[in-house]
Amino acid sequence: MKVLLTGGAGYIGSHCAVALIAAEHQVVCFDNLSNSRPQAIERVESITGTRIPLVVGDVRDREAVHRALTDHAIEAVVHFAGLKAVGESAEKPMLYYDNNVRGTLALVEAMAECGVRRLVFSSSATVYGQPQYLPLDEAHPTSATNPYGRTKLMIEEMLGDIAAADPGWRIGVLRYFNPVGAHDSALIGEDPNGVPNNLMPFISRVAAGRLPELSVFGDDYDTADGTGVRDYVHIVDLAEGHVAALAALTTIDRPLSIWNLGTGQGYSVLDMIRSFERVNAVSIPYRIAPRRAGDVATCYASPAKARDELGWQASRGLDAMCASAWRFERMLATRNSG
Ligand code: NAD
Ligand code: WQD
Repeated sequence: MKVLLTGGAGYIGSHCAVALIAAEHQVVCFDNLSNSRPQAIERVESITGTRIPLVVGDVRDREAVHRALTDHAIEAVVHFAGLKAVGESAEKPMLYYDNNVRGTLALVEAMAECGVRRLVFSSSATVYGQPQYLPLDEAHPTSATNPYGRTKLMIEEMLGDIAAADPGWRIGVLRYFNPVGAHDSALIGEDPNGVPNNLMPFISRVAAGRLPELSVFGDDYDTADGTGVRDYVHIVDLAEGHVAALAALTTIDRPLSIWNLGTGQGYSVLDMIRSFERVNAVSIPYRIAPRRAGDVATCYASPAKARDELGWQASRGLDAMCASAWRFERMLATRNSG
């Protein structure tokens, strides 16, 4: 299939491009490069040995999306483009509603104009809010605790309305848990601008000596060791989940489907630190800090629906996540010193 990846130069999009090409899809990336660089696409080209057209454009620009869809005879869209920093979303809510919600609206309008009605959307486990039971299955009630999460929720609801109005759509909503790690080549990975918000890139930078120590946000949660528990999923597994979702959209006779992409296994912050230290033979200095506002104690997926309907389940464990994250961090150090 010919697939347009909005946000294709980003962390998840670049890994998905590799997985889609491995599954013999043709990929075109559409990205405004607000949080990525075109070099990411070049690296995907060198991993896959395939040329990937990059359209530099903004999803809010409906005409630009329309042109990309028709110029490249696109058959399906995987929509990663979005802003994702929870803290920033509270400071700049208009930016988040504009970029994420209006951006998605412009995208689906352009798709409807072009008769392209196959869409995979990057949602997030954040839409489950405060867990009422665990593991979180797709039927768990949804809510938002910050503007970023609310954009995901609003987009999910908008897509639900669109699918209800026109059952010709095939929409797959993927609720990611905590994607971490990097491709085996270490050519692509997660390299956030500024100080990382997320745990794994923060740990990598402490290990590399780029940051002095990790703050562990709270050790008094109701968890085995008191620190927060999350469902970390290897980025390459997550990418393969998109290939499975895209395939399912052609076989499942339902206009909208929601699937969790997680492992079903929770690890605490201290588990993460210890695994990273052991697997990579490095030391991660840390101190216990106050809880971070808005954090939940424990969050992990029921991956059963994705297993049953997509035939997808994560196969890479925590050691592989930590090893690949560190390989990528060291590669960045070589790149920056060269
Ligand atoms: P990322 O920032 O690395 O990638 C997003 C890409 O979208 C970037 O390349 C950016 O330049 C591009 N982009 C942003 N706004 C755009 C716009 N208006 N027009 C065109 N391009 C635009 O982030 P990521 O981690 O790869 O996340 C991809 C998607 O997955 C996002 O929608 C994010 O909300 C969602 N998600 C991410 C996580 C996570 O932990 N990384 C978890 C759940 C959901
Ligand atoms: C994981 C654990 C922290 C940093 C966020 C978004 C969510 C989704 C994924 C996009 C928690 C602890 C973290 C640090 C720490 N993104 N931690 N010190 O909060 O589960 O989810 O990213 O959709 O929407 O909210 O991930 O990596 O930030 O935190 O102790 O410096 O690590 O408290 O327990 P989170 P995270």
